[in-house]
Amino acid sequence: MDIANIVALAKENFFWLHRHPELSGEEFQTTERMKQILAEHGIDIYPLPLATGLVAHIGSGTPVVAFRCDIDALPLQEESGLPYASEYSGKMHACGHDFHTATLLGIALALKHMNHSKGTVKLIFQPAEETTSGARKILETGILGDADVIFGLHCCAAYPRGTVISREGFMNGAVDEFRIDFQGTGAHACRPYQAADPSMMIGNFILAAQSIVSRNINPFHPLVVGITHIEAGSARNIIPGSGFVEGTIRSLYPEDRCLAKSRLLSLAKGVAENFGGHAKVHITEGPPATNNDRKWVEVVQRVAGRQSLPFVTAPDSLSGEDFAFYQKRIPGTFVQIGTGVGPMMHNPAFRIDPETLQESIAFGTDLILEAISTLNENRD
Ligand code: NI
Repeated sequence: MDIANIVALAKENFFWLHRHPELSGEEFQTTERMKQILAEHGIDIYPLPLATGLVAHIGSGTPVVAFRCDIDALPLQEESGLPYASEYSGKMHACGHDFHTATLLGIALALKHMNHSKGTVKLIFQPAEETTSGARKILETGILGDADVIFGLHCCAAYPRGTVISREGFMNGAVDEFRIDFQGTGAHACRPYQAADPSMMIGNFILAAQSIVSRNINPFHPLVVGITHIEAGSARNIIPGSGFVEGTIRSLYPEDRCLAKSRLLSLAKGVAENFGGHAKVHITEGPPATNNDRKWVEVVQRVAGRQSLPFVTAPDSLSGEDFAFYQKRIPGTFVQIGTGVGPMMHNPAFRIDPETLQESIAFGTDLILEAISTLNENRD
């Protein structure tokens, strides 16, 4: 099978995947289809206790190079107008994970047909990235315990087709999400003195929470405290008994992350008590910040040059990416590839230039081969 046929097969699968998006943890058809195609081409899959997703492997021995792509879609109604638009109402591949899946399939076939034999390549078709649980599930299997390096690939709609984007150090932010329930006492709106008004707690808490960034965090460290969902009350003439807010904390440095959470907790409790109520704070910890190893970013740059693809230093971003969980244990780097400028990820009109599969498959394959030879050289 030559590279043109591999790209054609990947493209056909990209269209299929785009038409059949599956949400995080429900990627059954996607997993089944990948397993079937990999098996048809004699590519082995580890027997792992995963409900969805899979890890395929090619070659044997050391070094061990891991490459991760995510496979899940988003709960969004597609409005792209594409002939291969989602056939499932309210579900859409709006973050390009269909493109990642097709790319990894292409890389698997390319490596298999090259018959390389200088090490082991572990290809991770990761489920549930959007709910940030998939990377942890893969890590829990222990299958990456011997990995020397890991790469993660993501599309990017901000750059022309084939642009390679990465950077040394932090590339995405740590993500924590919170919900704070304010419990007060309800009353008739004409008798506010009989109430402990949760709207007062919520309003003052929102203002107080702004002091975390301005008064507690080093001004040279990026951090976001966003309150994005507020609910209280049901009528114009009733003071409600309770209300809640939800939001997100985005950070880069672990000490800031920790401080922001503890400040959020004490501000919520303090404000609620000051207005005669109390607050229950629930924080869900997401991934830490992706943190790219300099040595591997240099390898990415070298491979981009060899493939005649432009390299761009990734702009600052506090978006979340659960690839960071792998990087806590395995050195490596996250890389994006431009898929044509257009509506951004998580937008109902999001689209990818399918021709980019030519570049993404060639780049990914070459990156893996270059990583193997770099690791072999270092050993000699
Ligand atoms: Ni994504």
